Amino acid sequence: MCGIVGYVGSKEAAPILVQGLRRLEYRGYDSAGIAVVGNDGDVHSLRRAGKLDRLAEAVEAVGPGGTCGIGHTRWATHGPPTVENAHPHLSNDGSIALVHNGIIENAGSLRTKLEQEGVTFRSDTDTEVVVHLIDRLWEEGDTLEDAVAAALDRVIGAYGIAVISSRDPGKIVVARNGSPLLLGVGKNGEVLVGSDAAAVIAHTRNVVYLDDGDYAVLTAEGYRTYHIHQGQVQRKVHEVTWDLEAIERSGFDHFMKKEIFEQPRSLEDVTRGRLLEEEGSARLGGITISDRELLEVDRIIITACGTSWHSALIGEYLLEELARIPTKVEYASEFRYKNPVVDERTLVICVSQSGETADTLAALREAKQRGARVMGIVNVVGSSIARETDFGVYLHAGPEIGVASTKAFTSQVAALALFTLYLARRRNLSILEGRRLVKALQELPGQVAEILLQDEAIEELARRYVDSPNFLYLGRGFQFPVALEGALKLKEVSYIHAEGYPAAEMKHGPIALIDEKMPVVFLAPKDPVYHKVLSNIEEVKARSGRVIAVVNDGTEELEGKVDHFIRVPETHPALLPILTVVPLQLLAYHVAVLRGCDVDQPRNLAKSVTVE
Ligand code: M6R
Repeated sequence: MCGIVGYVGSKEAAPILVQGLRRLEYRGYDSAGIAVVGNDGDVHSLRRAGKLDRLAEAVEAVGPGGTCGIGHTRWATHGPPTVENAHPHLSNDGSIALVHNGIIENAGSLRTKLEQEGVTFRSDTDTEVVVHLIDRLWEEGDTLEDAVAAALDRVIGAYGIAVISSRDPGKIVVARNGSPLLLGVGKNGEVLVGSDAAAVIAHTRNVVYLDDGDYAVLTAEGYRTYHIHQGQVQRKVHEVTWDLEAIERSGFDHFMKKEIFEQPRSLEDVTRGRLLEEEGSARLGGITISDRELLEVDRIIITACGTSWHSALIGEYLLEELARIPTKVEYASEFRYKNPVVDERTLVICVSQSGETADTLAALREAKQRGARVMGIVNVVGSSIARETDFGVYLHAGPEIGVASTKAFTSQVAALALFTLYLARRRNLSILEGRRLVKALQELPGQVAEILLQDEAIEELARRYVDSPNFLYLGRGFQFPVALEGALKLKEVSYIHAEGYPAAEMKHGPIALIDEKMPVVFLAPKDPVYHKVLSNIEEVKARSGRVIAVVNDGTEELEGKVDHFIRVPETHPALLPILTVVPLQLLAYHVAVLRGCDVDQPRNLAKSVTVE
């Protein structure tokens, strides 16, 4: 959700903090701030409401000097996005500054107690209690880490925090419990902290992922890691495999467009080295469970949120159709509150781009506790979900910065198809059918590249419908989740109301909405339900709806019934969603741009939702 950055070393901290926040802005962009222990020994803090540019201008003008500091970009949970609620929060005497990502659940009771003791609160946030607690519990002779540990002992909730103080200068203390945090190990002793690798990658590729319960002390001479129950611990240094270019726009106007256009490559990357042409199967190094154990699984539950939930739905169709195994999809936010039927023969698959979504993580833990085997389909290497699942498949899609997920979705569907192939070939799928899927998977990158050539035509289409207040997206079978995803993309970046429906369900209600002003996007490729969808198109046309149809070639029967065609190449019906979703991503993108919306930072959203 919020982004955290920190730096301690020999360089000026403020510009490094602002640069780090720029790379984290996609995590939250309501307000931002930094604090530095200045050359005069005091804590200097600067905060601004609104986008990061406002803070950057202030830092440029004031430029607090100092080589140790922390920064934060906020996605509001407690209290509106005002300057007062922006982080860092300071102790009453201004000697301690703290940034926080997560939610302090007992903030209310702690606040009441601290107020009774005479502490003055200046914000509505849950975070502020932590800095006052550190202040109150800091005893004579204590170090900053002693005081932080004492405070965290009284705190219930999720946090990733970074703290500095003029009472113990030249030091950052960081701690993690439920909110991601990593250290960046720089040159000559300098150390950074970030809520994800994007914050530190300009300085180092060497990162240390902190575990829940870990805290660390960072100085210009290096760092030490501890665990609350285990004392000092060594955490492995990992190398980030992507580079700075992956988190830059590289000539594109927006990250969303760049990521849509990266799909030929991300689809190559997700299948690279994983397809077995001869055997008509998949090789998945991350599936460390034995074949015997895998074949013991008699039921699969896939759990996820948002766009990942849509790819999970496609996963359900894939697994049931091709691996003939009962599969159910659950919203992660609902899963653990419904006493799910899960046992040791259940495989629970958690799908997540970020690997940090709080609801998905909670569902994962619930499933594990109930004895299920838990698998991840995750993009971000080293993320919480990736680390807590028993085994899994990485997407290797590279960082996704645009808040609207695009390339992660197609890679998730491809990864689910690979896993389906892997499982199905061990269960029931014929080698011929397996080979057919392998070939189709190999062809996808080129086919997506072909679809992207229609960018200008889709922009033209967007121009015609830019003022429509509502859109309907309809599809059946494998295309139903694509309809949901198309509608979600449009509403999240353009703020137009859009609904996705199974095409035949339309006549049970939504058909009432259709008139000559209503654009209806039909997913109508040549799959086994194509002819059924044709009837649904007729029903919309009979009510003067405007039909935009995503189709394969050879659809003469649709001439005169469809207002606009978007063509995609043919492929295996189970993989068609990877192709049909691409024009819908472009349509949403262009409509949003034409409406003047900020597509990379849509209002109220954040890239990774790390609160429940
Ligand atoms: O990182 P995750 O895949 O777990 O995130 C899940 C959703 O928050 C995410 O897909 C969200 O719906 C996107 N904004 C969709 O574009």
